[in-house]
Amino acid sequence: MSKSAGKKVLVFDTTLRDGEQCPGASMNIAEKLQVARQLERLGVDVIEAGFPVSSEGDFEAVSKISAELKKCSVSGLARAVEKDIKCCWDSLKGAVKPRIHTFIATSPIHRKAKLKMSRSQVIENAVKAVRLSKSLCDDVEFSAEDATRTEPDFLIKAVKAAADAGASTVNIPDTVGYTMPGEFSDIIKKVREALPDSVRVSVHCHNDLGMATANSLAAVLAGAGQVECTVNGIGERAGNAALEEIVMSLYVRGDIYGARTGIKRKLLSPTSLLVSRLSGLSVQRNKAVVGANAFRHEAGIHQHGVLQDKLTYEIMTPESVGCKVESLYLGKHSGRHAVSERLKGMGIDVSELDMKDLMSRFKNLADKKKQVYEDELLSLVEDQIGSAAKTYELEYLHALSGSGTVPSATVRLRVSLPGEELRSAQEASTGDGPVDACYNAINRITKMECLLTDYRITAVSRGGDSLGEVTVVLREEGGSAEAQGRGASTDIIEASALAYIAALNRIRAGENRGRGSAAGKKRG
Ligand code: KIV
Ligand code: ZN
Repeated sequence: MSKSAGKKVLVFDTTLRDGEQCPGASMNIAEKLQVARQLERLGVDVIEAGFPVSSEGDFEAVSKISAELKKCSVSGLARAVEKDIKCCWDSLKGAVKPRIHTFIATSPIHRKAKLKMSRSQVIENAVKAVRLSKSLCDDVEFSAEDATRTEPDFLIKAVKAAADAGASTVNIPDTVGYTMPGEFSDIIKKVREALPDSVRVSVHCHNDLGMATANSLAAVLAGAGQVECTVNGIGERAGNAALEEIVMSLYVRGDIYGARTGIKRKLLSPTSLLVSRLSGLSVQRNKAVVGANAFRHEAGIHQHGVLQDKLTYEIMTPESVGCKVESLYLGKHSGRHAVSERLKGMGIDVSELDMKDLMSRFKNLADKKKQVYEDELLSLVEDQIGSAAKTYELEYLHALSGSGTVPSATVRLRVSLPGEELRSAQEASTGDGPVDACYNAINRITKMECLLTDYRITAVSRGGDSLGEVTVVLREEGGSAEAQGRGASTDIIEASALAYIAALNRIRAGENRGRGSAAGKKRG
């Protein structure tokens, strides 16, 4: 196993911008702050915190992250237009190391169909945008969107103009995941040769053909000094290049790349878990580096080999990426100290939490099951920081089903509507199944007209006593706003009710996140 040395490649993490804008992702500001703090601990060089002009929520998230982070640069995205750049700067100016990231598309299809601009107009706008950004902020990154489908001579002309105007980083995005490693390498070599050494070349690869990591690595060999990526590879469509794959490839194959990053590799696995829990985007089991099966050996021949010498089938150890077997288990006898320490180890800032409330939820859960796993603990945290103002809270639920019985449910909610006295309301209903009956009873109480567009159930951890977690997406009838809600319980009907109520609360709070939501509408 080779050790990384040589030139440092900057890691630009866009989990909170490109990652957050993908379907199904949903993080509120408190959750984004937790992720940003963890990314700083992880050692990323730049955090792209959002696209400030796109929504008030993004603006606030970028401002808060800017005010808090001290070590890494904080970047905000802006189209090459004055309004975006000024808004971006307003949200970034509290940062110790702010960066404005402005972009314009350069490819023929984007110029014609989207921008309706000629080549010279694109260059004119790029130069104007970089100049304006530079007048506000010392650190400016310029991206040529859809660079890999741009005529090579024009791409060079555009990036040279942006660099001359003051961009200190020039980013070459493979916006639609179209390029192949050899071809991308040629592009990056040409860009590198065309720019002065003082300008850093960055790459930003999407994964539509499954090439994002391979293309990013080819670019490093060709001279790129920054890679843009996301934790777990989350992002638009098939996602972005995965941070953990790039970092571990550079490390394990240091003999090829001769490059290093500043990432603390032992935090890769905890960071992956945190992002997956808080974003609501689960990691596929066989995902490289951080998937649940990444270090599991099933086949007899493999098990035999690993027992003789782990290196027969392991090119890196689980410990090297912080994937550990829990030695001390948390259960009903664990106290506040043990729980806080475990949370800190997972990258959670406990000073932000209401530990009294969390401990009471923890004890409740520990009473129902012997061992509480890390994912279950994170799910309790998510319940606390991820919840919107609670218009509705579940007080009581009784559901009945079985063969030959009409499924029915009785639900009592605590209702706290603005301008009204706090009250309890109870309704009963039947349905196609116990969950449907339960949702019908809730609808009778709330009188909200919502369509259930997604319902998923998973086991949070291992074993028959694992928490069941339900995720639902609701769409307001007649509107386009969608909200996601999650609920976890050892009882899956209760988890279903909690998820439904969480989504209703978000719709009530106007905190409509996720697919097609008004507040979550972004581009880039
Ligand atoms: O994929 C892309 O082109 C982007 C740019 C805005 C950097 O996300
Ligand atoms: Zn992108």
